[in-house]
This record gives sequence, structure tokens and C-alpha cells, in this order.
Amino acid sequence: MMYKDLYGMACGMLDRAYAPFSKFKVGAALLSKDGQVFTGCNVENSSFGATICAERTAFVKAISEGTMEFEAIAIVSSDGEAWPCGICRQFMKEFCDDDFKIITGDDEDSLKVYTMEEILPEGFRL
Ligand code: THU
Repeated sequence: MMYKDLYGMACGMLDRAYAPFSKFKVGAALLSKDGQVFTGCNVENSSFGATICAERTAFVKAISEGTMEFEAIAIVSSDGEAWPCGICRQFMKEFCDDDFKIITGDDEDSLKVYTMEEILPEGFRL
């Protein structure tokens, strides 16, 4: 799958985001090594700390369906490019190799691609 296509699927999730408090919608599309795509969006809560980010929604969907090996994730927000928060970086680190790709950008013609190692160097794992 092309990164542009994965990015397009992340954009398609912005409509599903539940973000009445921040108004900041986030969509994600996670590509597994066997070619499946798991999408996600942020889901906020009146108790703000109970909010789940789009990236973790996608990972939890995949892992709970039995998929554990991942190649790339595309992320986009209602304001354009979107970077994973610290909690999401740590969450991804648990399941991803150093060469796992994080894709974002303001549009499909200006994609930025980083690796897990680049966005969380010397990341923690037990
Ligand atoms: N958010 C994500 O979905 N992913 C991130 O990596 C950063 C933050 C969401 C959480 C919350 O609903 C909104 O963006 C504002 O923080």
C-alpha cells in the first residue's frame, strides 16, 4: 500500500472523531505487516483524562483482533499535520520495530515520514 493511500484513509476518519471539547479532530490509519489497515480517531470524554487518541484507538483495534506486527501509521488532524503525543509514542514503541514509519503532513503531496527510532530515541521497554 502507498503511503498516500494510508494517509487518505486517516483523513477519512476525521468525520468519526468525537472531539466536542478540544474541537481538534485526529484520524489515523495503521498498516500491519500482513497488509491489513486498522483505522482510528480520537474519542474524548467529559472526564478529560479518559480521552483516547486516534493512534491508540487504531492500535487497540488491531491488537484486540489478533494483529501484532506493524509497518506504518498515517496520522492527520483537522488542522493538518499531526504528531503523536508522548503517551502514543510510548504505546507504539511496545509493538513496533525501530524502522516502523510514522506518516503525516498537511496534504498527500507533502507527506513527512519518520521512523519510530527518530520520534522516540532510546525508548523504554521492559
Ligand atoms: N490527540 C490524538 O488523537 N493524538 C495525538 O497524538 C495527540 C492528541 C487528540 C486527543 C484529544 O482528543 C485532542 O487530540 C486534543 O489533545
